[in-house]
Amino acid sequence: MGQGREPIGVIGTGYVGLVTAAGFAELGSDVFCVDIDAEKIAGLRAGEIPIYEPGLAELVTANRERLRFSTDIADALEHARLLFVAVGTPPTYSGDADLSAVLAVVNAMPASDDHALVMKSTVPAGTGRAIKRIFAEQGKAGFRYVSCPEFLKEGSAVKDFLNPDRVVVGDDGDWAGDAVVELYAPLEAPLVRTDTASQEMVKLASNAFLATKISFINEIANVCEETGADVIEVAKGMGLDDRIGSKFLQAGIGFGGSCFPKDVNALKQLAGNSGYHFQLLNAVIEVNELQKRRVVGKLQKHLGSLVGTTICLLGLAFKPNTDDMRDASSLVLSARLQADGASVRLYDPVAEEEARELIRGAHFSDDALDAVQGADAVVLVTEWDEFLSLDWAQVAERMAGTVVIDGRNALDAVAVTAAGLTYEGIGRGSLASLTR
Ligand code: UDX
Repeated sequence: MGQGREPIGVIGTGYVGLVTAAGFAELGSDVFCVDIDAEKIAGLRAGEIPIYEPGLAELVTANRERLRFSTDIADALEHARLLFVAVGTPPTYSGDADLSAVLAVVNAMPASDDHALVMKSTVPAGTGRAIKRIFAEQGKAGFRYVSCPEFLKEGSAVKDFLNPDRVVVGDDGDWAGDAVVELYAPLEAPLVRTDTASQEMVKLASNAFLATKISFINEIANVCEETGADVIEVAKGMGLDDRIGSKFLQAGIGFGGSCFPKDVNALKQLAGNSGYHFQLLNAVIEVNELQKRRVVGKLQKHLGSLVGTTICLLGLAFKPNTDDMRDASSLVLSARLQADGASVRLYDPVAEEEARELIRGAHFSDDALDAVQGADAVVLVTEWDEFLSLDWAQVAERMAGTVVIDGRNALDAVAVTAAGLTYEGIGRGSLASLTR
């Protein structure tokens, strides 16, 4: 593979940019990566991967000779027609996306009839039209624009890149869109080629729908707690209906990460700015915020006042297999517990460094068994594999109390209970149904 493959540029070497660059290099393209962060580029040249993503370091190493790293956009412009944009678009105080990094790239482009920007960064609907207008105003109307959003999941991004559910391309039907379609062709994924405005909405609507599914099952879980039903059984029964599907029906202590909270808010904001009140999304966001805090109520139910108690949080990243702490439920939980007078002990196998930047006043441990030492209660926040195989007898020996809150319904309730501990999940019914 690779003979005659189109060379590409990738602007922004964050998580999306690097996975995209390494993925296309694997498919045989020469890839010219550009970032304004000179230190990062120097590190990448030396073979250092700045993020934790399974399989990424191996993919970069295997394709070393096809990957170039530079701080100068001219390198990419010289060698490639297609420039993938993968810079950050973090939310601003108003909830709108901050497009300054994207606009800096747009402004840095020269007039050209032979180049195209391919937008990978998540941008609000309407951005494509705005960028084309800017190009026209700057006398660069020949510069093409294609959008091709990112559906990668952190922790499985490399696999997702190589096996996408679909490729969505939004363009004006010219050479640039054809070239992007051609680049993805070897992956043999279903293709949706449409106009830019529709494509932009696909991304936001997909993430908002998935977030809605999670908030929905979390509310079902909360009702299950009132009625004695077990949400795991309920989700199993629901998920077998093809129209519903079994994915994203795992109840827990809320969604986080770099995409869902941001995209749900961005869609709500976008609707609001256009004069439409997107009621459902308000509820999705509110349910998610409350879900993170419900754990505190569960702890109070077992321990009474939390003043003077010691609570251990196992797992800090917003989900397993990543060091990403953005909008992680652990942030809200650790702050809430400390505000209620508890001492908080923390452990995460990978995200500690990131977490230390964001969490103050808590004790960080080097391993799970140290973290549970003297704890009145243990809360599973992130379902890393190593927590699923914990020796609960040893945990029980080290804890001061007996309460285990399984915030992801991931632990073996029977094993926890057999160690003399008190198990409580999210939306799990009576222990009878757990031990079946
Ligand atoms: C998501 C989208 O899945 C991806 O397509 C998009 O490109 C970026 O946003 P990601 O943020 O990496 O990917 O994580 P994902 O695996 O989707 O999980 C998001 C959050 O939802 C996590 O906090 C996870 O714990 C939570 N979640 C997920 C649940 O609480 N229940 C579920 O059933 C699924």
